[in-house]
Amino acid sequence: MTRILSLGAAALAASSVIGTASAASIYAFYTGTNAGVQIGMQDPKSGDIWVNDCSSMNKGNPLFPTDTPLVLPISTPVKMGGSIAATGWWDSQKVITSVFWHSVNGTIVNAIYNCDNESGTFVRQGPEYVISETANVKNSSIHENTGLAVELLGSTAGYRVFYHDNNSKVQELFYTTSTNWNYGGIVSQDPVSTFALGTAHSSTDNITVVFPKSDKDIEVSRFNSDKSWHISTFPDTLENSPTNKTATSKIEIDSSIASNFTLPAWDGNATAMGVSIDSTFTRSVFYIGTDRLLHETANINFQWKLYPNQTSEAWPEADTANGDMAVTYNMQTSEAWIYYVSGGELVQAYRGTNGDWSNAAVISVNSVDDETASDATGKKSTGLSTGAKAGVGIGVSLGVIAVAGIAIFFFLRRRRQQAAATAAANDKEQPINLGQYQTPPEQAHYMADGSLAPPYSPQAPYDAHDPAKMAAMTPVHMMATPPPVEMEQPPMIHELPPDNYSYELPAESVEHR
Ligand SMILES: *[C@@H]1O[C@H](CO)[C@@H](O)[C@H](O)[C@H]1NC(C)=O
Ligand SMILES: *[C@@H]1O[C@H](CO)[C@@H](O)[C@H](O)[C@H]1NC(C)=O
Ligand SMILES: *[C@@H]1O[C@H](CO)[C@@H](O)[C@H](O)[C@H]1NC(C)=O
Ligand SMILES: *[C@@H]1O[C@H](CO)[C@@H](O)[C@H](O)[C@H]1NC(C)=O
Ligand SMILES: *[C@@H]1O[C@H](CO)[C@@H](O)[C@H](O)[C@H]1NC(C)=O
Ligand SMILES: *[C@@H]1O[C@H](CO)[C@@H](O)[C@H](O)[C@H]1NC(C)=O
Ligand SMILES: *[C@@H]1O[C@H](CO)[C@@H](O)[C@H](O)[C@H]1NC(C)=O
Ligand SMILES: *[C@@H]1O[C@H](CO)[C@@H](O)[C@H](O)[C@H]1NC(C)=O
Repeated sequence: MTRILSLGAAALAASSVIGTASAASIYAFYTGTNAGVQIGMQDPKSGDIWVNDCSSMNKGNPLFPTDTPLVLPISTPVKMGGSIAATGWWDSQKVITSVFWHSVNGTIVNAIYNCDNESGTFVRQGPEYVISETANVKNSSIHENTGLAVELLGSTAGYRVFYHDNNSKVQELFYTTSTNWNYGGIVSQDPVSTFALGTAHSSTDNITVVFPKSDKDIEVSRFNSDKSWHISTFPDTLENSPTNKTATSKIEIDSSIASNFTLPAWDGNATAMGVSIDSTFTRSVFYIGTDRLLHETANINFQWKLYPNQTSEAWPEADTANGDMAVTYNMQTSEAWIYYVSGGELVQAYRGTNGDWSNAAVISVNSVDDETASDATGKKSTGLSTGAKAGVGIGVSLGVIAVAGIAIFFFLRRRRQQAAATAAANDKEQPINLGQYQTPPEQAHYMADGSLAPPYSPQAPYDAHDPAKMAAMTPVHMMATPPPVEMEQPPMIHELPPDNYSYELPAESVEHR
């Protein structure tokens, strides 16, 4: 039966092979154990954003149908090959996602979606917000090839969105519950070599942004407790510890310090970069090199080091040199997930809690053979080549296809019910991901990292975010002078060593997660 269904689906599918895009058009974020990682990618042919089935998982991994893709409903079209970014959380019943994209008319747009757990699709809540306009950032000042990255810091601290200006410099937009969207200032005055942007945070005042500086170096700008961005590079070292106030001409490599390594297969043209942070605060930076392989560099005791290469089973070769990818992580457990296109399929590389990489899994599926165990070496149980499947499939009658459709419906429904039962059981054992340092208010919802989800969803509408309403509520002067970034907790005093001040501050005893 399964085989017949597969043939029917093959006949319906134009192609299950996923193309690759020229900008960072894949996103991934972790929502916790109930719904796992949520992913999306722009289909380079249609410009649509394809997403995973948000109410089902495939052996704990995202279920990403490609023959009949789940398309995110969008009104302001995404620029073809434009950047997308997303974050979100599990609200104890469903996944909520907040997606950002570079639109056809050059603006940055945001929309919030709730997962409909019956259909497994996302339903938009409220309008699409042109956040760059709300922040008074002109579309002409946003680079036509801008990258996009988002960090959701928490319920009051809100979002930080990173993009490139028309001089190829990384800039920030921010949203807090008391400010709406505002321009947040420059992250580094050093122009990038390509528009890959990797971001991660370990607390509201510990945000890392990485991007390509040159054919030799990666640049790191870190926002820390002194509320400014501190800039460094690796493997080479910069002169005079610059910040985001340092002029472009003053940001220079210190040629008197020899670098300890060279970045393998790096030419400064990476399409995408990703950052993960583990439970020991070690930051890893990932990219796909000119050799189409993944590469990892990590910061240990304030020094960047090359990390070992993994096997081709764990890190299969990507289809494109310097290719697109997305990284997400769970800091508490040290898990990390990387998504990219290999062999025409979307694959997932996975680092477990012990720090070891398992064999990669194929994430893209035809809706009928999604339960088929397959690994990234491309072996699937049907044993037919795609060409053979298509050839046989053409002969399959419409009647069989109709039967297949009904069977798929019941099959998917049964799996959803099983998934719901499992989720309910998990919920009993482990109510929600409680933050270690937070007293949960009534009805609070938590993100995967244990921090509070933003309050505007799902109970409260996203009104405060509505540009029209906020225009009435926000005094004009607030638009020009952004108020100080709000913190989740009472400010802590950070003692900085006066002289040998380092931009890599050691971890503190109280770390907000
Ligand atoms: C951007 O595009 C959308 C849809 O094409 C349109 O409704 C909107 O008015 C445009 N915005 C601007 C500022 O041109
Ligand atoms: C920017 O927006 C204006 C409308 O406000 C539109 O006419 C123009 O084409 C947009 N620019 C780009 C680069 O899309
Ligand atoms: C960048 O954008 C600003 C603001 O829209 C504009 O004044 C400036 O001319 C632009 N610069 C370039 C190089 O396009
Ligand atoms: C540097 O970063 C801080 C914090 O984000 C910001 O307030 C400031 O405006 C930035 N400086 C510049 C020159 O953009
Ligand atoms: C190279 O390694 C040495 C010893 O591990 C260290 O002292 C030095 O700071 C490193 N240099 C750079 C540029 O990271
Ligand atoms: C990983 O492989 C690359 C070649 O692709 C090589 O240049 C690099 O040194 C290797 N890294 C390690 C840590 O072995
Ligand atoms: C869907 O979510 C609702 C609450 O939003 C819940 O009551 C219902 O049991 C869920 N159904 C499934 C199949 O998960
Ligand atoms: C900030 O994060 C980095 C990277 O995870 C970590 O090394 C550092 O100790 C943290 N610093 C503070 C002040 O939390």
